[in-house]
Parts: sequence; structure tokens; C-alpha cells
Amino acid sequence: MGLQDLEHPLVHLTPPHGWLNDPNGLWYDAKDELWHCYFQHNPDSTVWKQPICWGHSVSKDAIIWDYKGLAIVPPDSDGGVFSGSVVVDNRNTSELFDESTDPRQRVVAIWTQDADGIQRQMISYSMDGGYSFKDYAHNPVLDINNSNFRDPKVIWHKETGRWIMVVALSQKFEISIYSSKDLIHWQYESGFAVRGFKGLQYECPGLIKVPLLDANGQEVKDTKDNWVLYISINPGAPQGGSATEYFIGEFDGKVFQPRDNQVRLMDLGKDFYAFQTFYNTPNDKDVIGMAWASNWQYTNQTPTSQYRSCLTMLRKLHLQKLQITPEYSEINLFSAPLWDQDSLVNLAPPKSLTPDAPLLPNHGLNINLDQGEGLLEFTWEWSVQDKLVPKADFCGITMFLKDQETSNQFLSLGFEANSSAFFLDRGNTGSHFTETNPLFTRNLSADLTPYRTFQGTSIYKVHGILDRNILELYFNDGALAATYTFFYLENRPIRWVHMESSVNDVFKIKELRFTELAIKSPSKTY
Ligand SMILES: *[C@@H]1O[C@H](CO)[C@@H](O)[C@H](O)[C@H]1NC(C)=O
Ligand SMILES: *[C@@H]1O[C@H](CO)[C@@H](O)[C@H](O)[C@H]1NC(C)=O
Ligand SMILES: *[C@@H]1O[C@H](CO)[C@@H](O)[C@H](O)[C@H]1NC(C)=O
Ligand SMILES: *[C@@H]1O[C@H](CO)[C@@H](O)[C@H](O)[C@H]1NC(C)=O
Repeated sequence: MGLQDLEHPLVHLTPPHGWLNDPNGLWYDAKDELWHCYFQHNPDSTVWKQPICWGHSVSKDAIIWDYKGLAIVPPDSDGGVFSGSVVVDNRNTSELFDESTDPRQRVVAIWTQDADGIQRQMISYSMDGGYSFKDYAHNPVLDINNSNFRDPKVIWHKETGRWIMVVALSQKFEISIYSSKDLIHWQYESGFAVRGFKGLQYECPGLIKVPLLDANGQEVKDTKDNWVLYISINPGAPQGGSATEYFIGEFDGKVFQPRDNQVRLMDLGKDFYAFQTFYNTPNDKDVIGMAWASNWQYTNQTPTSQYRSCLTMLRKLHLQKLQITPEYSEINLFSAPLWDQDSLVNLAPPKSLTPDAPLLPNHGLNINLDQGEGLLEFTWEWSVQDKLVPKADFCGITMFLKDQETSNQFLSLGFEANSSAFFLDRGNTGSHFTETNPLFTRNLSADLTPYRTFQGTSIYKVHGILDRNILELYFNDGALAATYTFFYLENRPIRWVHMESSVNDVFKIKELRFTELAIKSPSKTY
């Protein structure tokens, strides 16, 4: 592997060259057992620039991606193939397929054409399992003469036996719901408008039924309240720029009714946008999706040379009751990374700190990860002796991640007990971009509730995946997630962990385990 390849994350999808943003047309091919991911792509530019096409990558394991080039390109040079989705029309409702295509691969893409100042919904279909597409002869299938009408996401609604599309009227702040019997004729059903964080634009909506689990992890069967409507907003997200919000409610095939007035963010980091779910999954009931790991505030300036931006890992979603405070609980969306490690090798036995290791102000603990190639997984559980938390100064436990012990470039993250907040400082990485771009927020935080409490002690838990220039964190078994990108001046892999506390006696490590991983066959890493 050439040194410059160090700038590509290993298990996060990137294009080999050029620009990437929203994931599009995610679907799982049940015949060839393959994950398909399309994405907003221009292979000839590392900034967003027309013509935007659908790039395409496939994966057997959702970890190692194989780039397949362009799948859908604009018919005329000044337009763009904007975001959209894919369905498998196994029943031939569109009447576009003949016997030559396996029912499991009758793929129809529904996407937005951006041309002549108007955004219209188009369909294209594939007879070869999603590698090449043919535009439907009578496009567009939905045109309301609007210049900000985009990002159709289509699902099959079993209960009413129809296709359902959600699509954003971005600048009216409406998610329009349409239905169809054949993917060609669409009927307006209702609009979900001006709700939640409005930001300055709605984009990339999705509506999906998510398994609701009881306290024992068993699926609750007779519930209606388990539809999730997600919307991406940009700009104007609470953390600045782009974010994905969601609502939980009921959907009868016509109207989405949220169960309460609450809006929640799907990920508290600053690099999580345009989340979309897969059509079809290996176990049909699973709900799995991925997002673009960047932010429009700074994405065009991030310091990578061959390509720009990556997608998150696949995330599996479920709903479950969460105790928010001792006096209040509610249904929450949980996420977990799909992290099948069969395609990876452990470069060394996992390294850990002894349980209950005391952390002292002038006596840090170190872990030397000398084999690391930039892909690390960690689990970290720490306890806080609540009655000892000083109420004035910084009372924190900090983890420094560096390429080597003596390096002055580092990522620091940890927990401040007085405010009960996780913090990340991604500002000490030496890169000019990091130091000068005022919108690449250096210090970020996420307020945490304890994973559990026990006799005046609170325990917190996080699962992390660190892949060269992206860090995905899943707190308290996925009750909260946070995704952050970071950019070192030199793309040297992280090989040194140093942990320290600002005070005596307050913090203990319950568990800290790092695993250094690499891809088994390193020839293909995109
Ligand atoms: C799909 O529908 C069209 C139009 O009715 C028909 O010509 C075609 O044979 C159908 N395909 C299959 C596989 O039945
Ligand atoms: C589309 O909208 C524009 C501007 O609102 C209007 O001038 C034009 O007549 C409309 N075209 C059609 C076909 O309705
Ligand atoms: C800690 O708590 C005290 C009292 O509530 C407050 O005045 C102080 O600003 C807090 N410090 C931090 C770092 O949160
Ligand atoms: C960011 O966090 C660091 C500690 O990691 C602190 O020293 C610095 O003052 C913070 N900067 C800002 C702008 O808050």
C-alpha cells in the first residue's frame, strides 16, 4: 500500500478519486448476497461540482467496498442525478422487467433530476443486478414545477399494498408523502410540514418501520407506534451546518402522525448527514442504514488530496425504552455498527488496562498499539464516584490518541464529571485546515446519562471505531451515537493511548480494551 493511501479510511466507504456526498439507492441483493451502495459522486472533482452522478460500490461484508464506477449519469450535460433510492420490484408492478431478470434483482432507482432550474422525480431500472441502468422512457414520473423538490425515498407498504414515497419540498419545509401502485403514477397523500429543527432546508427524508424491543430484547408485536421519519437539515443544524433528525410515530399508509412533539438527533456528532436505510436486508426485519460522514459547513475544504469524504459504517436500528432520568423514560432510537470482523485480522492480542486501575493526576496510564495501521476498535467503561466530584474546576478524565508517545499532534476525548458531558478536542492535529477553519468546530461535546448507577457511583460506557480520520462512538449500548472526522497533518496511524485524570479518587477504569485491526486482503480498501 502506498503511503498516500493512508488518507483513505480502511472500512469506511470512500471513492478512490473525486467527490462523494449523500448515500443513495441503498439495497441488499438477496440473490448474490451483496450490499449495494450508490452515492452522490463526481470522480473528476474533489469539490461538489456538476455533473453529479450516482457512483456505485458493492460489499459482501459491509466492511470492504469494491468501487464499480458510475451507475447513473445525467442525460444532458448541465443537469445532475441528485439523491434518491432503490427498490426491488420483484412483483413487476412497474411492468419494466421480463423473465431474464431474477425477481430479487428487479431494481428500480427513483431519483431527482436537477435541470433547467427544476427538480423532477425520475426512474431508471436495471436488468443486470444494479450495475447499469436504463432511464424509463416516459420520465419524469413526478414533476410539480418546483425548483426544490428532491431526494425521493421509496418503500413497499405491505399493509396497503402500495409503494410509498417521501420526498422533500426543501424550502417549504415539507416532507410530502405520495403513494403508487406501479412506481410510475404517484398520488399525493399528505404533508408533514414545519416540524422539529427546521434549519434552512429539509433534505433526504425517509420513513421506515423499526423493530420495537421490550426490556428483554424481544420484539413487541402489536404496536403501531414504531414508524420513524428521519429528515436531514442543512444548513441550520443545532451543532452548526448539517444534521439528521427523527420523529417516532404512527403511519397508516397516508399520514405520518408523530407520537409526541419531540424531535431528536440521530447522531450528536458534527459529521452525520443524509442518513438513508437499505431496501431489503439479509434478515428482512432488520433496519440498516448509513450516512454521509461530513458537514456542508466545511466539507469542500477538508484536507484530503485524492478524494473527499466517506460514508459511515452500516448501522442497525431498533427502538427501546430508555430511562432518561430517574423519573422519566421514553422510547429511544438505538443504533449499533454492523461490524462483522470476519474480513479483518487482529494485528495483536487486544490490549487493555486492568479493571479498577486508579487514575492519578500526575501518573497517566499508557497503551502502546505498536502494530496499528489506523483501524482501532475500543470499549471503554469508567466509573465516577459522584460524591467526590468537585463543583468548580474541570473534573475530568482524558484520553489522548497519538501516533507516538512524543508526538504533539493528538486527538483528546473524555468525560467532565461536573457537567456529566463527553468531550472531544479535534483541534491539535497540526493541520492548517483544522487550525484555521472556524466552522470545523474543534471542541465538541455530548451530554451523557449514566449507563448504570450503583451506590453513589455512576458508570458510563462507550464503544468506539476509529478508522484513520473518522471516529464513530456509540454510548451506552447505542442509546446515543456521535460521529466525528479529524485531520492530522500527516496521516500517521494512531499507536499511542495516554489516559489521565485531573483529580484523585473520583474516576476508575472499569474496562478499557483496544483492538488493532487490519483488512485480511489489503488489495482492496475503498
Ligand atoms: C412484466 O410486465 C410486462 C407488462 O405486462 C410484461 O410484458 C412482462 O412479461 C412482465 N414480466 C414478467 C417477468 O412477468
Ligand atoms: C412553472 O413555474 C414557473 C415559475 O413559478 C412559471 O412561470 C411557469 O409558468 C410554470 N410552468 C408550468 C408548466 O406550469
Ligand atoms: C461545576 O459546577 C459548579 C456548580 O454547579 C459550576 O459553578 C461550575 O461552573 C461547574 N464547572 C464546570 C467545569 O462545569
Ligand atoms: C478546547 O479544549 C481544550 C482542552 O482540550 C481547551 O484547552 C481549549 O481552551 C478549548 N478551546 C476552546 C475554544 O474552547
